[in-house]
Amino acid sequence: MTTMAPWQTDWHIARATLEWQLDMGVNEAICDAPVNCYDLPQKREAPQAKAPAAPAQARAEPAQDAPDPIALARHAAESAQDLAALQAALAAYDHCELKLGARNLVFADGQPNARVMIIGEAPGREEDRQGKPFVGEAGQLLDRMFAAIGMGRENPDPAKAVYITNILPWRPPQNRDPSSDERAMMRPFVQRHIELIDPDILILMGRISAGTLLDTTEGITRLRGQWRDIMGRPCLPMLHPAYLLRNPPMKRHAWADLLSLQARLRDTT
Ligand code: URA
Repeated sequence: MTTMAPWQTDWHIARATLEWQLDMGVNEAICDAPVNCYDLPQKREAPQAKAPAAPAQARAEPAQDAPDPIALARHAAESAQDLAALQAALAAYDHCELKLGARNLVFADGQPNARVMIIGEAPGREEDRQGKPFVGEAGQLLDRMFAAIGMGRENPDPAKAVYITNILPWRPPQNRDPSSDERAMMRPFVQRHIELIDPDILILMGRISAGTLLDTTEGITRLRGQWRDIMGRPCLPMLHPAYLLRNPPMKRHAWADLLSLQARLRDTT
């Protein structure tokens, strides 16, 4: 657990309050004093004439020396010589706003010497709380899926172990999809993470993971089950367990992909 500054605590209280209000069905923000909508003036006052726009050349130019967050991420990631340094570099990276709303940086779990590295999307509520990837309902399904082929994050045998991380280490608010900017900022860190773990096989768990690392907008239902190559190593896009929880009939595809992974591991011992 990281220690929070008082302003961060306030942020969490404010978010929890808003989430509670949304759960209670609040869908509109109103003022303290009641407004009688039937008594409003029929005509709004004409808006004041706006000041003329500044000529194009006089408008503020983007600062020449504004740091490029992706270049900074690349530099920070490439400088990390081991996992602890990479985690510290992520913790020190201040250009992704998701960090402000997260309780914890969710770095990784499992065995760093595993032959298989799984890359998911982003932490959810439970992962944010515990600081570990894939520990909520979807994570429990992920564990059962890999247990079905004799593999797991706790297994000390590298041939049967998995190592798990995400594209984003911070939970997006309301579990929204990460933006393309957020994904682009985190990509150098994920690439360095792959280099440091040096797995034989990568599993791209779900649409966001496959889309970010394969640089494609192709849907995951098309991509899944097709072996690809990233950074000189085979990778298999799979359906995300959260998707499987919502679409149980698709589990048969996940099973086919797990068998394909098992065969590939056997062929490449
Ligand atoms: N979904 C993910 O993609 N990653 C997690 O860590 C949890 C849920």
